[in-house]
Parts: sequence; structure tokens; C-alpha cells
Amino acid sequence: MLEPELNPPGAGAGGLLYLNGRLLRPEEGCIAVEDRGFLFGDGVYEALKILNGRCLWLDEHLERLGESCRAIGLEFPWGEHPLAEILPRLAEESGIQAGLLYLQVTRGVSPRDFDYAPGLEPTVMALIRPLAFPDESTFQRGISLHPWEDFRWARCDIKSLNLLPAVLGKRAAREQGCDEVLWVAADGTVREGGSSNAFAVIGGVLRTHPADNFILNGITRRSLLRLAGELELPHEVRAFTLGELEGAEEAFVASTTRDVMPVNSVGGRPVADGRPGPVSLQLVNRLRDEAALQAGLDSPQPFSRR
Ligand code: PDD
Repeated sequence: MLEPELNPPGAGAGGLLYLNGRLLRPEEGCIAVEDRGFLFGDGVYEALKILNGRCLWLDEHLERLGESCRAIGLEFPWGEHPLAEILPRLAEESGIQAGLLYLQVTRGVSPRDFDYAPGLEPTVMALIRPLAFPDESTFQRGISLHPWEDFRWARCDIKSLNLLPAVLGKRAAREQGCDEVLWVAADGTVREGGSSNAFAVIGGVLRTHPADNFILNGITRRSLLRLAGELELPHEVRAFTLGELEGAEEAFVASTTRDVMPVNSVGGRPVADGRPGPVSLQLVNRLRDEAALQAGLDSPQPFSRR
């Protein structure tokens, strides 16, 4: 539980940290060198959007955290760390209007050994920092993707701390002058972005990779599939190839930090006319409306086709 007497005064502006039951300034947090998260990346995480001092899609993120913990055999002590209460309080006390809440759980601290003893005390950490979400000009510009053969592991459904492939992929993308890496299977199947899910409109149908072990089932992805249903947009959970993406009517990536972000080019070739398409527009506006509603704000000015 939070210990209110430890509330750091004036911590709001720069960020706020929850670490194993204590509320601290981010720079005050210390992790043991034998923490298995540090040694092995033995842990899982979530990234949540903070808007108007509220956590968005909180239940969905906590449910996925539980799934990730179960998948790696980590027994999360929900009773000691009631995150459904702690995180909203942390968001409110941070004073941050727009930000990202990074939540990480590791298996805990023990002398270095690949195998682990059961019953370790997990390290639970939540850090809120300000973050600007994409505005209309960023949306209109869109992003460029750098396709790369997927060399990650076959459990990408677990939101694991092992992010070296994403680090290398995003660096390679940057070196090619692109904004995001696009993981593509050896047979040409498009899987997902480095930290985003990939969507394309092909033959009038919105498509995305099934939520199997080769992608992370994004919270944004799930919302968009639901919204596509509500908007009666033709859609199908079916993977597409890099060739199909290159000839798509429109494409976008989706994540907590990027919302719906149109793809203007893949591997240096423009996708359609390189501008946001009508499906991307409808979905981003509905998603932003939902976010505002959850945050207790008025609906934002809708993005428009330029
Ligand atoms: N990443 N796929 C991967 C590999 C991701 O890392 C992410 C999110 C997503 C989108 O998931 P969501 O819609 O739940 O954000 C898909 C977060 C933003 C991160 O690592 O910072």
C-alpha cells in the first residue's frame, strides 16, 4: 500500500514513482543489483496513458498484466499491491495532465541463477512521466516503417521486459531514416511494429494480425477492432503480407503512445497517397473521444482529412 507520509512534496511536475509500496520522486528509487529484472529481464510490464490525471483503459491493462505474470509463472501479490487503487491515486497525485505510466513487475531479488526459487518477493514499480500524445499535425504527417525480418522469440504475446530486439529494430529503422521498425515473418507475413500493432485496409477491408503468440495483443488494437464493429467498417482479423501492405489503400500502426498513426511509407515506398485515409480518420476520432470520456474531458476537436 502507499505510505502517504512518504509523499514527496512538489513531486508532480517531473514525475512520480511507486516502488514496492512507497511513493517517491523518480530519482529517489533504487533497485537491488541482483534484481532478476536487471540481471535477466525476468519480468513483465505495461504502459498506460494518463490524461487529465486519470489512467485510461486501466482494467484492460491490469488484466493483461495478470496474463503476462501467469505466462511466466510470477505470482503477483495483488493484495499487497492493489494496483487498481494505487495507480489512479498515483496518476492524480502526479499532477500530470498528459503522460505515460510505466508499470513493471520483476520476479524479485536473489543471487544470480537462471532458475528461480519459488516465493520470491516481486519488485513492483510504477513511474509516471509527462508525455505528449500525437497532435493533428503528427497524425497528418504519419510515420514511415522499416520492414525487418522478425528475429524475436515465439512468445511475443507476453509483455516481457526483454526488449533488445525492439531496441535494435528501432535503431535500424532510425538509421534508415524511418520512424518505426515493422516485424515481418520470413514468409512475408506482417506481424507488428516495434512497439505498435499494424493495420491495413486492403480491398476495402481493415485487417490486422490475429492475437497469437507472434504479436502483443495491444489494448489499442482491441479497442480499434471493437470500434470498427461499432462504426460498421468492414474488418477482419487476418494477417497480410508486406506485398499487400505496399499496395494497401491505407495503413496505420496503433499503440498507447501513438493512438492511430497513419503509415505514409514502407521501406521507402509510399503507401497509397501517403496521407491519412478515411478509416484511420474515423478510428482515431472515435478513439480520442473514448479517451476524453474516460478522462472526464469534453470531446476533442476531430482530426480532418487534409
Ligand atoms: N508498447 N506491440 C508491441 C510489441 C508493443 O510493445 C506495444 C506497446 C503494442 C501496442 O500495445 P498497446 O496498444 O497496449 O499500447 C504492440 C508500449 C507502448 C511500450 O512498450 O511502450
